[in-house]
Amino acid sequence: MGETERTILGFLQNSSQIPDSGQFSSDHNLDHDQVKNVIKRLQAFRYIDAQEITRVTWVLTEEGDKYAAQGSPEVQLFLAVPEEGSILMVELKKKLGKSVDFAWKYAKEYKWLELENKQVSRKVQHVEDKVKRMLLQIQQGKVIDKDGINFLKGRNLIKEVKWNGFCSIKKGPNYAPERRIVSTDLTRENLLSCSWKELEFKEYNFNAKGAPVEAGLLHPLLKVRKQFKDIFVRLLEYIMFEEMPTNNFVESSFWNFDALFQPQQHPARDSHDTFFLKAPCTTRTLPEDYVERVKRVHESGGYGSRGYDCDWKREEANKNLLRTHTTAVSSRMLYALAQKPFVPKKYFSIDRVFRNEAVDRTHLAEFHQMEGLICDRGLTLGDLIGVLKDFFARLGMPKLLFKPAYNPYTEPSMEIFSYHEKLGKWVEIGNSGMFRPEMLRPMGLPEDVQVIAWGLGLERPTMILYGIDNIRDLFGHKVDLGLIKRNPICRIGI
Ligand code: PHE
Repeated sequence: MGETERTILGFLQNSSQIPDSGQFSSDHNLDHDQVKNVIKRLQAFRYIDAQEITRVTWVLTEEGDKYAAQGSPEVQLFLAVPEEGSILMVELKKKLGKSVDFAWKYAKEYKWLELENKQVSRKVQHVEDKVKRMLLQIQQGKVIDKDGINFLKGRNLIKEVKWNGFCSIKKGPNYAPERRIVSTDLTRENLLSCSWKELEFKEYNFNAKGAPVEAGLLHPLLKVRKQFKDIFVRLLEYIMFEEMPTNNFVESSFWNFDALFQPQQHPARDSHDTFFLKAPCTTRTLPEDYVERVKRVHESGGYGSRGYDCDWKREEANKNLLRTHTTAVSSRMLYALAQKPFVPKKYFSIDRVFRNEAVDRTHLAEFHQMEGLICDRGLTLGDLIGVLKDFFARLGMPKLLFKPAYNPYTEPSMEIFSYHEKLGKWVEIGNSGMFRPEMLRPMGLPEDVQVIAWGLGLERPTMILYGIDNIRDLFGHKVDLGLIKRNPICRIGI
């Protein structure tokens, strides 16, 4: 137990209170900061009770300090003028420097001095240095009147400081003139020597906050992705959606476009829209017989279609690219499914896609898509609409509208709009359709099998859910790490 603590506890043994920690510190020659710390500690152990107080006090500025030591410039000016006779103003300026002009203003106002024919002489015998007196009083911690304060403040000789300390410091419920030291840890020595039997242990503080855990934290996109996954996994409870493997960002044009009956002249296949790879610039293997069927359906149709009536080039299909949509993964999965005896399937994927786009506050060159598809016999557009309603209702979007649209690989196709209650308007949230026979039949899926599918971006709902209006604040090198550390859990679909 330190000296300060002993002094405080000892003082309270015979006195009912310590009225002021500042006064107490100067009376007992103690450091006030240390006294404050000891008071806080004793308060925590309930040895004492005390009230915290803040007071506004004044201290001297640098200039104020100077005047307190040397006297105010006006008095110095007065003293520089001889008691009898006079002195030339220029002489005074030589002696006292620049401060004369300033001091003269006061000396004249107080009628201490007068100036005649460039000669300065005294008009009074004695003057009192009120400024110095007040400054010394403030230095000693004494109280001076309001006018004095305003005057000194106006001359920039004093400044305000906040003082805090404690008042009415009294005995607390656990008061004792000496503080018992309690143990915080049970040590090996305590156990070996049996001293634990005598020791008094500090009580547990169950309200204390634990140290922050240094652990990995989820980005808002990952939190929303988790919620979406949960919805897919729970959608139509009896058969879960299986997640498709989305681990290859690099894809061939074949799976990204051709397998999806996207014509080779389609503008999306231009390098302005798609990132093509330099190395390796082409894919190594494709299933040859299937490639042959895809070529045929593009060139001359089949399965009730006329095709595109054009030359289909293998070199174009071989080109590697960064996949532009997760439908590339769906085409691989459906092809794989078609190679075995047919079983109905529900698949979903959520992962990154890339488009060669100008970056602005709502677009990035890479973003995330999620996609769901159901593959079964006899599915209709009504099934698609029903599934979409169920899916989006679980995301908290029960009001949907569908607008006819065009995708090379779906027919019919529908854009999905949801009514945004906050914005008070319909916003586009996704795209959907029934995969065309030109896509499914060459894969080898039976004729009566239909696939309904839909896709949507992950960023837009995340931005809405987390109130972010610039995509660059959500994703990329400009993201503030604080956003990752401090964002709430995502609560959709519950
Ligand atoms: N691939 C489409 C897109 O990128 C989304 C989509 C998926 C459309 C499945 C229809 C069916 O926007």
